[in-house]
Amino acid sequence: MKRTVLLNPGPVNVTERVRQALLKPDLCHREKEFSDLMQSIRSKLVRAFGIQNDYDAVLTTGSGTAALEMAVCSCLSEGETMLVIRNGVYGERISAMAEAYGFNTQCLDTPWGEPPVLSNIEQVLKQNPKIEVVALVHHETTTGLLNPVHEIGELVRKYKKRFLVDSISGLAGDALDFNRAGVDFCVGTANKCLQGLPGVSFVLARKTEMARLNKIPEPSHYFNLYKNHQAQEKGDTLFTPAVQIHYALDAALDELLEETVTGRINRYRQASAMLRKGFREMGLEFIVSETHLSNTLTALKLPEDVTYQGLHDRLKGQGFVIYAGQKKLSESIFRIANMGDITTEEFQRLLDTLKNCLSASTPS
Ligand SMILES: Cc1ncc(COP(=O)(O)O)c(C=O)c1O
Repeated sequence: MKRTVLLNPGPVNVTERVRQALLKPDLCHREKEFSDLMQSIRSKLVRAFGIQNDYDAVLTTGSGTAALEMAVCSCLSEGETMLVIRNGVYGERISAMAEAYGFNTQCLDTPWGEPPVLSNIEQVLKQNPKIEVVALVHHETTTGLLNPVHEIGELVRKYKKRFLVDSISGLAGDALDFNRAGVDFCVGTANKCLQGLPGVSFVLARKTEMARLNKIPEPSHYFNLYKNHQAQEKGDTLFTPAVQIHYALDAALDELLEETVTGRINRYRQASAMLRKGFREMGLEFIVSETHLSNTLTALKLPEDVTYQGLHDRLKGQGFVIYAGQKKLSESIFRIANMGDITTEEFQRLLDTLKNCLSASTPS
């Protein structure tokens, strides 16, 4: 079958080893074999990030948003406020979720593509003692901006708040020092930089937070972080999990442990550096200052006379899938991610093909 190179920020191209893992034997999730598989995944996750002493992985079936909802709806004590730092679609999603649960929510906005100003965050934390949880997106996939998670985390700790980080597109792509950032709840998914398949996501939760979560009235029956954690600690699941996707995640985590998180981050950094050099040589314009860019996604302005759909279709004809801008950026940008199992040769072919497509669409 012809290979399509996925340059969207997940689901990503996976290795043959991960794909083949889907074909393991049919399995009942109430049997010991599934319990062992789940515990293997939970243990590999915390070991890969070197956080096994202080954090537990809590899995849920569903895309990244499922685990995000599990963290958001379970972490706020009654009557307290969640501060959401927003500079893109995914920060906006966190506040929309918190509001849907009827939580007191305060938002601190900076324009899309710009990092938040630390002194503004400090001012809000000083002014509002009701803030209990601060939520931030690590890598804002809307624009490719890497938020200053460590600096913000230090402020969150200074004011003794809890820190919830959506690192769905950040984990294993860009560095996250859990201790320095003082992360309490970190949300991730199988099918981006972890290089598994879509259908399982997780929260890496600070163990000492569980006693507090137990006191919060049940937020959601399905997405109860505390109860899911309780069940998983006993080797059980509350509901029917996506069994085959767990097999694939387990294989993907073996690959991550072999490559190491640092190794993977370096590979992605090198790939993005190569792509960005090519983009610059083509005269393409970045929408985020290069100093704030993640290792895994570049958002580029569409050149005049080039439509997203036209460019997408021409590239797809050559075996490459690119990604559109979201909401107010949908007409003006395109995005190229470099997550997943993609070779240097494929990135070079993408650059050559993109150059041809752009020169064919620019009137001479
Ligand atoms: C930062 C971030 N948060 C949340 C999500 C939502 O994840 P999913 O589409 O897997 O539900 C994404 C998806 O790209 C993301 O990049």
